[in-house]
Parts: sequence; C-alpha cells; structure tokens
Amino acid sequence: MFAIRLTEASDDAATRVVPIGPDGPSPAGELDAEVHALIKQADDAGETGRVTVLPRPLSRPARVLLAGTGDGDEAGWRAAGAAVIRAAGDDEALEVLLPSTAGEAALRGLAEGLWLGGYRYRDAPKPARSGEVRIVAANPQGYAEGLTRAQTTAAATWLARDLTNTPSSVKNPEWFAEQIVAAAAERPGMTVTVRAGDELSRFGGLLAVGGGSVSPPRFVELAWNPPGATTHVVLVGKGITFDTGGISIKPRDGMKLMKKDMGGAAAVVAATLGAADLNLPVRVTALTPLAENAISGSAFRPGDVITHYDGTTSENLNSDAEGRIVLADALAYAAEQLAPDLVLNLATLTGANAVALGKRTAALYSPDDELAAALAEAGAAAGERMWRLPLAEEYAENLHSDIADRVSAPGGPGSVMAALFLREFFGDTRWAHLDMSAPSWSESDDADLSKGATGWGARTLLRYLSGLSRT
Ligand code: BES
Ligand code: MN
Ligand code: ZN
Repeated sequence: MFAIRLTEASDDAATRVVPIGPDGPSPAGELDAEVHALIKQADDAGETGRVTVLPRPLSRPARVLLAGTGDGDEAGWRAAGAAVIRAAGDDEALEVLLPSTAGEAALRGLAEGLWLGGYRYRDAPKPARSGEVRIVAANPQGYAEGLTRAQTTAAATWLARDLTNTPSSVKNPEWFAEQIVAAAAERPGMTVTVRAGDELSRFGGLLAVGGGSVSPPRFVELAWNPPGATTHVVLVGKGITFDTGGISIKPRDGMKLMKKDMGGAAAVVAATLGAADLNLPVRVTALTPLAENAISGSAFRPGDVITHYDGTTSENLNSDAEGRIVLADALAYAAEQLAPDLVLNLATLTGANAVALGKRTAALYSPDDELAAALAEAGAAAGERMWRLPLAEEYAENLHSDIADRVSAPGGPGSVMAALFLREFFGDTRWAHLDMSAPSWSESDDADLSKGATGWGARTLLRYLSGLSRT
C-alpha cells in the first residue's frame, strides 16, 4: 500500500487538492482567487466525488484538483478521496489541503477513500503508485490516530481484495492457509492452527465438499487474544477456493467468477489481523473452512448424507450448496470448542442475495435485534451496506428430510433457506449471518470500490470490533 503522510508544510512541486465542502472550498492561500473563479464557472464542483481540474501551465503548483465532498460527511470525504486518487497520475505527488473544520471522520473518510480508490492487485503488471500523498493540516498530530485507523482498515481491505482476486490455480486451500500463517507470524500475540487430513475427521461437511479436488481441504483457526479481553467474538468465513458446483455443475456463466467464493474467509482473516494491528482489547477468532468444490470421481454426490461436526446429519441433494455444508462444521466447532460471546458468519452463499437486494447490499440475518442494528450501523459508517431479511419461520419445515436430520438445499427463498439451515449450528450463542455474494465483487471502478474483488466485510467487521472495545 502506498504511504499517506500528515504534514504542516506545503511544497509547490505537488499537485494541490482543494476539497469543497458544504461551506465552500478549503482555504488555499494564494490560490484562493483562482479556485473561487473556477467554482463560479463549474457550479457542480462540490458534488460528491466530482473532481474539477484547474491547469496552471508554467506555474507552481502546475495543477489544482477541486474535490467535491458533498455534505462533508465521512462518506462524502471517502468518495472525494477515491475520485482524487483516480484523477491523479501514478507518479504525481499530491497535497490535500484539510480545512481546519475537518474532524476525525473527515480525515478517515478522505484517507480511506484515497487508499481504497487507489487499490491495485499485488500481482498486477502495472507497478504500484509512486507519487507521494500528503495531507496538509494545521495540527497534523491531532489526526494521527484517525490516519492509523484508516490505514489499518484499508490494509485489511487490500488484503481481502488481493486474496479474492488471486486465481484459483494459485489459491488452493493449502496456499490460502499458508498466507494466513505468514500474516499471523508477522504479528506478535497472534496464534494460528491449521488442520488437515486426519485432524478433520469430525468435519464431515468439509471433507465431503473438499473430497473432489486434488488440493485437499484445510481448517484454519486464527486467534487474537489480548490480555484482559473480556469479550470473545468468533468470525466464520466461507472459504471455497473455487466453486464449480460439483456434480450439480454450474452453467458456464455462473462459474466465471467463482474464484471469489472465499470472500467471506478473506474478510474475516483480514479483520482479525486488523484487530491485532490496532491492538483492540477484544478476543477475536477467525475460523475458515477452506476447500475447492471440484468435479471428479471422488466428488460427493447429490443424495449423499453427511455427518457434521456436531454429529447431526444432512442430506445433500445439490452439491452446489457446498457453502452451508462446510460452514455447518465450522459453526458447530465454534459453539462446542470456543463457547464465544458472539459468532458472526460471512459467506458468498447464494445467488439469491443479488436477486433480493441488488449488487451492492448484503443480506443480514440474526434473531437478535440489537446485534442486527449494531452491525447495520457499523456497515453504514464503514461504507458497506446490509439489509436485514427475516428468518421466515414458515419455511423452516422445508428443511425436513426422511433420511437425515435435515436437507441442505430445499426449495424456497434461496438466501433465507440457507440462513435457516445455518441457524441449526450456532447452539445457544448470539449470532448473525451475512450473505455477501452480491457485494463481494464490482464490475467496474465505483467510488471506493475498484473493479474486481471489493474485500466486502473487512471494513464493517473492524468498525464493529472497534466499537465493542470502546464500551
Ligand atoms: N457460491 C455460490 C453462490 C454465489 C452465486 C456467490 C453467485 C456469488 C455469486 C453458492 O455456493 C451456490 O452455488 N449457491 C446456490 C445454492 C443453491 C444450490 C441452493 C445458488 O445460489 O444457486
Ligand atoms: Mn455452490
Ligand atoms: Zn459457493
């Protein structure tokens, strides 16, 4: 990730960025007259995410970028930051003039927008941005903590995007587990356990789904357990490194993007690493069942009955409902072995998420009103939207099986049915489940989202965990 520095001084060689809020442009010293003249001509210059360029040939600075922050709230600043970094050249040094009225939220929004809009895949052929980015403020020290929070959030999102954008030929379960181990090793106080082979004997769902691939499954437990922590949050993330659908094979168009089917695992891992980076006084454990849902002679079959970690069985009529099958084991493991205060499950679980809510909104399920509200609020503040859908009781009977404790993929509303299935595995723990299939991917650069993997969930989880530690 490129660096952003807070500074007091200004350097004429850098392109000046003048944010425009509801009260007008940031004071820009000797540039004020030109800036005001331009705003008179371009009366949309203050609109959220609008960048207006003022070229100054043969002068210094040679370019001024006016950046609209809309209402001047955190989201407006985030949009402005993302637009600015896209409007600037890779080697163009930037100086953003922060007005003295800007609070921590403005700084956070701005910095997150710059970093998120400036994301580049770590193995991209184009080299990383080289121009320096400075934020000029009257009292830079006052914003230091906000910048650190923004940096941690953005770094977590970059990691989640990198993992999700990685092709599945590289990203098998073993590789993914190694990435987690390496990241944990860089952070004092983190522990990680990787289970494979015989150690997975109770994970019947993970073994069944992973059984069709030459790359065998893994179960990773990544823990941040700071001294004195009183709350324990378990984050579970779906980690299907590629989803062919298995023997219930997907049609070609539906398979194209299925390298992203580990977006939930990427987000929970990134957020847990971020919690350690921020030294949050909350115990956080990320659990990721990692498997490739492949097709072969050893793949599980429609109609197979699987025994999960808690000893209950499911009848699987559709091998493309693999997510809930591996998650069931992870959730049962969390309840039995970790007995946490709270379990949050993130998964690219159903195409029905997008049918119900469109491309940018995750579906939120929880029996707990307070938890649901807190998560939605954290998401709204972080710039990731979710919408609560019901655990519609009238469909629970669809889970009935004649030969097992339940069926995994009965008819009914797709995203709701998956949530009703998962509900059975949380035990008595408080829980929420986020079906994030839709917002895990963006077809184009769009404000803070870059084309490709969005890293959805990392930001929300970090906000939520930070909020827990404040009370
Ligand atoms: N990974 C898919 C869900 C998905 C679809 C994620 C589109 C992102 C974009 C999941 O494993 C799946 O195949 N779900 C099935 C469930 C069905 C078989 C009950 C689906 O949504 O069709
Ligand atoms: Mn599937
Ligand atoms: Zn899947």
